[in-house]
Amino acid sequence: MNSNGEEGKVESQMTAKKKSTEKALSRKIEVAERRLPSASEAVGEPVFGLEGVGVSYGGKVAVRDVSMTIGAKEITALIGPSGCGKSTLLRCLNRMNDLVPSAEVFGKCLYHGTDLYGPEVDPVEVRKLIGMVFQKPNPFPKSIYDNIAFGPKVLGLPDVEERVERALRSAALWDEVKDRLDDNAYGMSGGQQQRLCIARCIAVDPDVILMDEPCSALDPISSGKIEDLMLELKEDFSIVIVTHNMQQAARVSDKTAFLIVELDSTEENRWGQLVEYDETEKIFTNPADSRTEDYVTGKVG
Ligand SMILES: Nc1ncnc2c1ncn2[C@@H]1O[C@H](COP(=O)(O)OP(=O)(O)O)[C@@H](O)[C@H]1O
Ligand SMILES: [Mg+2]
Repeated sequence: MNSNGEEGKVESQMTAKKKSTEKALSRKIEVAERRLPSASEAVGEPVFGLEGVGVSYGGKVAVRDVSMTIGAKEITALIGPSGCGKSTLLRCLNRMNDLVPSAEVFGKCLYHGTDLYGPEVDPVEVRKLIGMVFQKPNPFPKSIYDNIAFGPKVLGLPDVEERVERALRSAALWDEVKDRLDDNAYGMSGGQQQRLCIARCIAVDPDVILMDEPCSALDPISSGKIEDLMLELKEDFSIVIVTHNMQQAARVSDKTAFLIVELDSTEENRWGQLVEYDETEKIFTNPADSRTEDYVTGKVG
């Protein structure tokens, strides 16, 4: 049996803990509500400004000196041969490289003018505002409903049930799943799982959705649905997509960045480098650099 003194101590500890949780949650809600999808940027206004961005892993340079501006409510595609640093660059945009201990990021990564890597920026908040969808759909081993409700619940967002429906509708999945929200997400097809992952991002009101080869594990019909969905989503979100499928980049994106693997004279050191960044139509029909032309016409892979 606890003495009264000890009980009092435990109680005050619990109150303190509850208070700090409440404080954290209210801060999160504030952050979550600060930038709703209806954020007022006009199409093409800068969301990201990269200035001399580079990444190394364990001291070895993987991408070097990338400078580009990524516009709001547009789809920006990153293309280029395997190993040129597309995924690495994409991960800079929501600080996912923080999770790779050997990774070091150089240069400036501005998000609405704020240094994403600045000391006052919380990477967890960054990843909420800037969601990511991966190559292989990665739903949680939970029900369809709980997959979507998870983020809003953790963030203490209001009206979870409505949010779940809205997110599933936005991801063009509602009609397919509304009668089986309690079923495990693992029972869905690959294409449905990928749309579920997109809905999961949307449910916490992000500003940007990053997609790393989101269709490469899908059949052509499911890929087509994701492409249609991206075109709808860009009304509300800014999207950056890595794709090895040039037709896909040409079909969906507004701007395209082409990267290559560069070699030094010893051919021992290789790194990714941005060759050209422009309107997608220009990149695919009249690129400025012959290396871009060789790549988009399939002369080199
Ligand atoms: N976690 C990691 N640790 C070490 N090296 C990595 C890591 N991720 C990527 N790299 C290296 O960085 C370079 C770029 O890789 P990546 O960004 O995956 O290219 P892409 O997505 O264009 O195929 C490659 O040389 C790759 O081996
Ligand atoms: Mg990759």
